[in-house]
Amino acid sequence: MKGIEKRFSGVHALKGVQFELCEGEIHALVGENGAGKSTLMKVLTGICPKDSGEILYSGKHFNPKGPKEALDAGIGIIHQELQMMDHLTVAQNLFIGRESTKHSSFFLDEKAQNRRAAELLKRLNMNIDPEEKLGRLTVGKQQMVEIAKAVSHNLNVLILDEPSAALTEKEIDDLFSIMRDLASKGVAMIYISHRLDEIGMITDRVTVLRDGEYVGSRNTSELSKNEIINMMVGRVIYEQPKSHSDVPPDAPVALKVTNLRAGQLVKNVSFELHKGEILGFAGLIGAGRTETMRALYGADKSDGIVEINGQRILINDPMDAVKHGIGYLSEDRKRYGLALNLSVTDNSVMASYENISKGFFLPLKEIESLTSEYVKKLKVKTPSLNQLVKNLSGGNQQKVVIAKWLIRDSSVLIFDEPTRGIDVGAKSEIYMLMNELAKAGKSIIMISSELNEVLRMSDRVAVMCEGRLTGIIDIQDATQEKIMSLATKREQIVTD
Ligand SMILES: Nc1ncnc2c1ncn2[C@@H]1O[C@H](COP(=O)(O)OP(=O)(O)OP(=O)(O)O)[C@@H](O)[C@H]1O
Ligand SMILES: [Mg+2]
Repeated sequence: MKGIEKRFSGVHALKGVQFELCEGEIHALVGENGAGKSTLMKVLTGICPKDSGEILYSGKHFNPKGPKEALDAGIGIIHQELQMMDHLTVAQNLFIGRESTKHSSFFLDEKAQNRRAAELLKRLNMNIDPEEKLGRLTVGKQQMVEIAKAVSHNLNVLILDEPSAALTEKEIDDLFSIMRDLASKGVAMIYISHRLDEIGMITDRVTVLRDGEYVGSRNTSELSKNEIINMMVGRVIYEQPKSHSDVPPDAPVALKVTNLRAGQLVKNVSFELHKGEILGFAGLIGAGRTETMRALYGADKSDGIVEINGQRILINDPMDAVKHGIGYLSEDRKRYGLALNLSVTDNSVMASYENISKGFFLPLKEIESLTSEYVKKLKVKTPSLNQLVKNLSGGNQQKVVIAKWLIRDSSVLIFDEPTRGIDVGAKSEIYMLMNELAKAGKSIIMISSELNEVLRMSDRVAVMCEGRLTGIIDIQDATQEKIMSLATKREQIVTD
């Protein structure tokens, strides 16, 4: 790709970008949120027409009119946002548009399709039932299905736009072995990820974009993580674990949860959250952390006692939780956190209308100045406050969800995987923000699957395994080993 230009109204997304991909190589494409990575890939696959520039594919001019044409030419993409049908089965999703039909009938041959799906999934070592409805799988499993779907076409070029954001470590391992296998067969891959450790593990070369511009391409083996960060954001960012907590041991209890039970998974979870504290929730994926918080937040039916500032409260639905000053940032923001077809402003103040509205009208000025304050604070990259959220880059959409709960001024904030899909620069801004919020007396629960993040942010670390809370460790005593051992500690129930 040479001299690729792309403008959206108000945004110069690609400024003369170049990109080169060799046969059988795994090439990382990195850059901050909004740098233009997804747009460049949408240009390559014909989803989004370029304004100018040139694409050569196997030496020939290539100008796909749409993703179908790109796919027929052997270029496939796995999107950052899942794009499949929840109500269809795994097999139906895998073969959508190319269903198996019996020889002499127009009816779909479900059986044959399920069999083909089962073979494909087995070949890729994916433990997924082809007849299950897609919507019933975890986000990670859905992502694996999308990967299987892409692999099932015979591709020369496979683009993976942040495939790992929702995967467990095991799933990431599986993904990497699939990728290595494809590379050995000559398939070239473009790998987009904000997890820089992965870049070193799986890629041969790295290309960096910054602000729609091409910064450079280098061999991965010649680059350190800090050099990549420096190319991406133009500065070095240091990450250090928290060595001690500044929250006094006698700080008032902001939230107390006793014997919370929900569904099949959550079993008698009890903990206290102090004012000004960041309580990390660690555990393997599937440990029941999200389920616990959903129960606490009233999104799912639950049993147990919840107290805010010493007062027992009843939470039957999320509105009750919001009323009592609990804000929840879902890990699945597309599904629960955002109205994609509304503007940045509308999304930001969505949870706060009753606070902001005075009498019968909403003071627009106030809404706009609040939104613009938080858009600035969080460095949300948007051409205007009226931009529709669906047009923002993935990471910037996440910042809008955070803005929403900050504007709402909740006293207890539950952050579920707050930095998933967020670039290193924005990540450290969000960390600073969380620290500031805690200093200002807010109490924060942070679920994170990245142990580094847990160790860096938490005052105490709660660990869950199979729906039980298996222990709470003070940050000065917390190590990766201790957390992992509690995360895999079966059966024993620890409550305090
Ligand atoms: N359809 C669109 N309409 C308007 N602006 C858009 C559209 N798509 C992308 N943009 C803008 O183009 C810029 C580049 O976005 P892009 O999605 O390519 O970023 P990215 O590098 O993939 O970021 P992330 O890491 O957050 O996914 C952003 O400023 C984004 O808001
Ligand atoms: Mg993107």
